[in-house]
Amino acid sequence: MEGLMNKLRHLDAYPKVNEDFYSRTLSGGFITLVSSVVMLLLFFSEIRLYLHPVVETKLVVDSSRGETLRINFDVTFPAIACSILSLDAIDISGEQHLDVKHDIVKERLGVNGNVIEVRPDGVGSRKMEKPLQRQGGRLEHNETYCGSCYGAESIDGECCNSCEEVRDAYRKKGWAMSNLDLIEQCKREGFFQKIKDEEGEGCNIYGSLEVKKVAGNFHFAPGKSFDQSNIHVHDLQAFRKNRFNLSHTINRLAFGDHFPGVVNPLDGVQWMQKQPIGMYQYFIKVVPTMYKDENGHTIQSNQVFL
Ligand SMILES: *[C@@H]1O[C@H](CO)[C@@H](O)[C@H](O)[C@H]1NC(C)=O
Ligand SMILES: *[C@@H]1O[C@H](CO)[C@@H](O)[C@H](O)[C@H]1NC(C)=O
Repeated sequence: MEGLMNKLRHLDAYPKVNEDFYSRTLSGGFITLVSSVVMLLLFFSEIRLYLHPVVETKLVVDSSRGETLRINFDVTFPAIACSILSLDAIDISGEQHLDVKHDIVKERLGVNGNVIEVRPDGVGSRKMEKPLQRQGGRLEHNETYCGSCYGAESIDGECCNSCEEVRDAYRKKGWAMSNLDLIEQCKREGFFQKIKDEEGEGCNIYGSLEVKKVAGNFHFAPGKSFDQSNIHVHDLQAFRKNRFNLSHTINRLAFGDHFPGVVNPLDGVQWMQKQPIGMYQYFIKVVPTMYKDENGHTIQSNQVFL
């Protein structure tokens, strides 16, 4: 035991030289100081590198088919009213989603950007079965009611039970509606009152949209759209306005789920309309992306490039 202790005592990686053979110098102190600082810096930078995993990218061919793409958006139009604004999505395969209302919320904005009303744009809010009518002081559905289409019936006995349906029937015929004030259905629903009430307001529209993974476009525009001889048309007649200010701010535009490090280049982009009439287009490329973290979790999403 004693021998082992002795051996340990003599084990020294830095045997001391006799004091006479060395002296402390200025340059020595300087080198000590600098090297200590460098060592400290290296130590922390290595720790930092260790704690921040690097993202390794790999390019593969996307062989998925028939999948859909979820577009999440949040756009503010400071000078266009919610009741006027509509959203359409069209792709090259010919699929159209006109006047999308599913999964969309519209917020009416006042002049200084305050929220007046939040309106889920509701599923199936377009089709009205039988309208509510006053019956002995109460509002009830009248089962025998069949509203006139004002001459635009495509088949005999067709009913137009809401303002929307009368307008659709006219659109289908390719007719102009010169005097919407005389349409009973529109009067009853307060169609003009709604437009008049929202005059000068803005609209914040947000939600999501499911589209096919093919080239296409989606757009926000005033007026309901329809197809006439294969041309995409927006019906603006009912609004009695021929100028629309489509200035907007994109608060968020993402394709698919969020994953760490995703950059959405259109977030925060703003466009101000200078001319009385305007349109603005963004051309973007969407690249399917699979993000896999160190625990093996994968997120299927997309990246956007301008
Ligand atoms: C229901 O509608 C029909 C047809 O428009 C009308 O003749 C009838 O008076 C209405 N009934 C009530 C209770 O309002
Ligand atoms: C459109 O509205 C924006 C924001 O309210 C405003 O800055 C811009 O001047 C308007 N453009 C026109 C042509 O009125």
